[in-house]
Amino acid sequence: MSNKVLEILKKESFTREEIIRLLSVQTEVEKNLIFEKAAEVREKHIGKTIALRGLIEYSNTCSKNCLYCGIRSGNPLVSRYCLNEEEVLSCSKYAYDQNYGSVVIQSGERSDKHFVNSIDNLIRRIKKLSNGELGITLSCGEQTEETYRRWFESGAHRYLLRIESSNEELYYRIHPQDVNHDFNKRLLALNHLKSAGYQVGSGVMVGLPFQTDENLADDLLFLQKIDVDMVGMGPYIEHPETPLYNFRNEIPEPKTRFEKTLLMIAIIRIMMKNINIAASTAMDTLDKEGRIKAIIAGANVLMPNITPIKYRENYLIYKDKPFIIEADELLVRFKSSPLLKDFEIIQGKWGDSPHFKNKSV
Ligand code: 5AD
Ligand code: SF4
Repeated sequence: MSNKVLEILKKESFTREEIIRLLSVQTEVEKNLIFEKAAEVREKHIGKTIALRGLIEYSNTCSKNCLYCGIRSGNPLVSRYCLNEEEVLSCSKYAYDQNYGSVVIQSGERSDKHFVNSIDNLIRRIKKLSNGELGITLSCGEQTEETYRRWFESGAHRYLLRIESSNEELYYRIHPQDVNHDFNKRLLALNHLKSAGYQVGSGVMVGLPFQTDENLADDLLFLQKIDVDMVGMGPYIEHPETPLYNFRNEIPEPKTRFEKTLLMIAIIRIMMKNINIAASTAMDTLDKEGRIKAIIAGANVLMPNITPIKYRENYLIYKDKPFIIEADELLVRFKSSPLLKDFEIIQGKWGDSPHFKNKSV
């Protein structure tokens, strides 16, 4: 078959134009060529495995005011919470007992001393309770280089900080233009994380108002350029209590956003081969098998939510977030899905990014 897409997929690396071409495929035949290639790369470099992290939504208090996010500081309708230490430890114990191998502590962004100390203390206590066995990923926003180093020394070893959009102009259309939401500071934070020794994850939202395929292609090239170890990408989903909701008529249909995110996952898998890629929860909002399809497209990390149920309704960063599903129920769904019948869910391992390991040897 002589086909432009097939020709591109044979190349060792993609140009910007080629990525734009891949992102704009319309026919099922062409889409499947991309998904097949991603599946092949994934099998060769990762295997048909899924790594687990128990996701703990530590606190929904946030000092930022991102224009898309339901728990932004400017939303007075959110009832704010912060788990106490015992609650975090009991979630972690659950993840340990269930043999997940890792937890993620995710939180709204705060940088006051009390917060920094609390996270530090939690890292140490989770390590202790699991005899050093549970891996810890943090997703606690921008912090000083010193804080990043301190948390790393205490035992956290992976960090997720999405760039949200690598295009500075678009970044400032979805964030307030102030010192608290500085694009260059975010880039610097990613650098600091890397030099502190973390496996670093980043990513973007797909289907934002004003976003083009050119922007998305640049996002993928950006992730490749900064040489991330992990990627977390999900569809943008409008939230009525946010300023960006005013532009809800200017975003692609849910199905288009969903499929574009699958393509983004598949293309970054082909481009970066052995990185970890998360199947983000937001996929399930747009398709009931969203996360399963993300895995098939090239993702290899699943983060079941293990936050105590009573807090979950307060961590609604986007509308229709599937917050009630229990971690064990999600895993049953995964294990029994015919789509995933050849896949193995990894037990009791950190599930580190092979990309990072290869760099360190
Ligand atoms: N839709 C989809 N994802 C969102 N996030 C925040 N708000 C939304 C939204 N409305 C994502 C951001 C952030 C992560 C924690 O959640 O990418 O980094
Ligand atoms: Fe805070 Fe993150 Fe939401 Fe921005 S996206 S308002 S930093 S929780």
